[in-house]
Amino acid sequence: MSRKRVAILISGRGSNMAALIEAAQAPDYPAEIALVVSNRPDAGGLATARAAGIETAVVDHTTYSKDRTAFEAALQQVLTQHDIAIVCLAGFMRLLTADFVLQWQGRMLNIHPALLPAFKGLDTHARALEAGVKIHGATVHFVVPEMDSGPIVAQGAVAVHDDDSEATLALRVLAVEHRIYPLALKLLAEGRIELAHGRRRIVGARPPDGAFVVPDDNG
Ligand code: GRF
Repeated sequence: MSRKRVAILISGRGSNMAALIEAAQAPDYPAEIALVVSNRPDAGGLATARAAGIETAVVDHTTYSKDRTAFEAALQQVLTQHDIAIVCLAGFMRLLTADFVLQWQGRMLNIHPALLPAFKGLDTHARALEAGVKIHGATVHFVVPEMDSGPIVAQGAVAVHDDDSEATLALRVLAVEHRIYPLALKLLAEGRIELAHGRRRIVGARPPDGAFVVPDDNG
């Protein structure tokens, strides 16, 4: 089996990155984490990646001031140099231009801490509490030019408790993020899902391991 070479793009602590690295250590996992790229030199996840023996790179967006195209050209160069087949955004806090996104169409995933299409954008947990929803969660989706809008690959749901704070809810959602991202990457790397006509398509039989996770320890 040839394993797909994956780059993970981060900006911060990198706990989803760590979950992907751990999953990819299984000998039968169809992807290898070949590179971790951060747009911030101080991202905590860089040390975690290096400790796991993964190559890292920093493409510091501040170096390119307001030139988004030059920043993305540098990013693309690093990805090309490492012969990357799939890109996973994991807490990567830069908006990408349509040109860059279209270069990776069908080969780039993102994780969002809400059950899309609800609560796109930032502060999802605070907004979920404010809205009084009883079910919240996380989504892995294909990246398309419009933010947090691509076809959904996997979702994980958690119950919202009456006494939840933003922090307690975030913690419960993060636990499902760490389960659904490795699952979604596996489906893509195995070629069992693909982007067809802007929608997610399952190739062959529906995956037996599903793409919807509700943890048992959900309270
Ligand atoms: C996660 O909640 C992810 O869903 C969001 O940013 C956060 C990143 O956390 N896009 P981490 O860096 O993976 O720990």
